[in-house]
Amino acid sequence: MNTGMTMKPILKTSRGELFESDCLNLLETLDPDSVDLAFADPPFNLGKEYSSNIDDSKSTQDYLGWCRSWLSEMARVLKPGGSLFLWNLPKWNLPLGAFLGERLTFRHWIAVDMKYSLPINGRLYPSHYSLLYFVKGEKPAIFHPDRLPVPCCRHCGGEIRDYGGYKNKMNPNGVNISDVWTDIPPVRHAKYKKRQANALPLKLMDRILSMSSDPGSLILDPFGGSGTTYVSAELSRRRWVGSELNCTDILDRFADLEPDKEHFAQIKVNKNTLFKSADLEKRRKSGRPLSKNYRIPKVDGTCVCIGPWNTHPL
Ligand SMILES: C[S@@+](CC[C@H](N)C(=O)[O-])C[C@H]1O[C@@H](n2cnc3c(N)ncnc32)[C@H](O)[C@@H]1O
Repeated sequence: MNTGMTMKPILKTSRGELFESDCLNLLETLDPDSVDLAFADPPFNLGKEYSSNIDDSKSTQDYLGWCRSWLSEMARVLKPGGSLFLWNLPKWNLPLGAFLGERLTFRHWIAVDMKYSLPINGRLYPSHYSLLYFVKGEKPAIFHPDRLPVPCCRHCGGEIRDYGGYKNKMNPNGVNISDVWTDIPPVRHAKYKKRQANALPLKLMDRILSMSSDPGSLILDPFGGSGTTYVSAELSRRRWVGSELNCTDILDRFADLEPDKEHFAQIKVNKNTLFKSADLEKRRKSGRPLSKNYRIPKVDGTCVCIGPWNTHPL
């Protein structure tokens, strides 16, 4: 990674470097075709106050022009086969997606179910963020999306959907992920309350990094915020590079990664499995045995059809 001779990181770990600078200054120092995964969660131009005192009330033309300047750079530094993700409101991702489509190959518009404003008279209730996913060239070099557990009732643990006669055909590692993500909870860990309100959930970043990068891959995020992308990269053994105008929150977070490590471990156990252990426990308590037809992986990696919980404890 080339981050220029003149810039000095404000934080350096064995895997990553953070620069307290304007993202354009960092981006212009990066080598072309050097990044495996680029992610951006810019300010949304909603007139918010940021500790970095940026102007978040630009004219539409200025905002889109500014976004295009760093998106061009992100596309330039992406490796062939590398993936670019852009998180924003549908209103902005519509024109920015068209701009990216002239440089990269469109893969998905992922709708992430999250309420972010109050209902407005005469409008539909905004209930999803847009996560645009592009790749440089025709195909992604890395693509291994996580599998998700069967969605279950939060009271009794029973399946929300009836899989009928297909239970024994279901992949024991979980169900295929779609382009609508309904299982990303808002940031709510006690320690996170102190963090900027716009911090993204670790689960979201873990899903993106798990899908489109491998340990050792280089991850770029030009808008650090509270550092969720860098924490996710650090804990999943990816290399990372990023910028932020005010790095105080990121430095605080990296000073004690223990809460993030605990949270990260929980995220790991609840993916690539057909049933969450918490849901199985709820079923046990509510006396609803799991169908014998599901195949659940055994510790040795083979699969078995399981019987009811009370005769075949999991
Ligand atoms: C929406 S927040 C990112 C939140 C981040 N994804 C997280 O999970 O914590 C956007 C961040 O971009 C930073 N920012 C705005 N303009 C910037 C620029 N020109 N260069 C670098 N950072 C900038 C802001 O200070 C703000 O912290």
